[in-house]
Amino acid sequence: MPLTHTRDLFAKALKGKYALGAFNVNNMELIQAIVEACEEEKAPLILQISKGARQYANPVYLKKLIEAAVSLSTIPIAVHLDHGDTFELCKQCIDEGFTSVMIDASHEPFEKNAEITRKVVEYAHKHNGSVEAELGHLVGAQFDDGEEGGAHSSSGHYTNPDEAVKFVKETGCDSLAVAIGNSHGAYKFKGTQHLDLERLKLIKKALMDAGLGDYPLVLHGASSVPQQLVAEVNKYGGKMPDAQGVPEADIEVARRTGCTKVNIDTDLRIALTAGIRKVFAESPKEFDPRKYLGPARAAVKDLVRHKVKNVLCCAGHAFD
Ligand code: G3H
Ligand code: 13P
Ligand code: ZN
Repeated sequence: MPLTHTRDLFAKALKGKYALGAFNVNNMELIQAIVEACEEEKAPLILQISKGARQYANPVYLKKLIEAAVSLSTIPIAVHLDHGDTFELCKQCIDEGFTSVMIDASHEPFEKNAEITRKVVEYAHKHNGSVEAELGHLVGAQFDDGEEGGAHSSSGHYTNPDEAVKFVKETGCDSLAVAIGNSHGAYKFKGTQHLDLERLKLIKKALMDAGLGDYPLVLHGASSVPQQLVAEVNKYGGKMPDAQGVPEADIEVARRTGCTKVNIDTDLRIALTAGIRKVFAESPKEFDPRKYLGPARAAVKDLVRHKVKNVLCCAGHAFD
């Protein structure tokens, strides 16, 4: 089966009110675990590759591994560049056959971000690619003083609803990553875990009111950092004190509010690490990589099955 376009996946997800899991991949075990889980759950899938993943694994290896996974499965799979930081990298990925790319110029002022995004959109659309852009800064909730509850601050880190409309109209980007207190990694919140879901609703409504329809939003930093996996990591010699993620109930609300693409990387890393650490701790004489990578791969597969079934609710929608 050839690669699927995110455009088609988004349209169906919006209609069916479910979210697509966008899982980061770096190596064979992660790809196998994710694709097998989604195949068994009949879930549509986005595999995403960061610049760092390309540097680690070599783009050709990743491409061939994904080709193998696609040829062995029946579900729709899209391949997406995660956090592309230049026009050149986005162009390269489109030329290599990625069905969509993210241009992340969110660190730039609004106009510069829009200018770079527009350039990527022009190229991508000419070559049948889609573009995700980002507005706002993924600084997490600890920096949100004075921004809670959807206040329309345009100087803050969070995405401003009116600016989101302006940005989408000016750039023509196909989806937008929002900043609502989310952040990457395993240490997302210092105090109470929460996202500014009121703001998310306002962003969605502003886009709808501006005639942009049921516009697809993207939630980065959506790992929930499962505490039982963190406990396993710590039990078997790791050190992840105070690791905290987004509560699954918040992801549920985000999904219902229109976050159509939900990015997960950290949870995969923790599951893989817990699996490897357990074997190392319990069988210190073991040195066959298959004996520790195998159980670790199975742990990632379990995690992905749980996400697509119980959190994203995309299980069973592969052939909609
Ligand atoms: O958003 C970042 C993703 O988790 C990818 O991380 O740049 O370390 O590959 P990475
Ligand atoms: P997490 O670090 O929460 O897994 O977020 C991943 C992500 O947003 C990739 O772009
Ligand atoms: Zn991200």
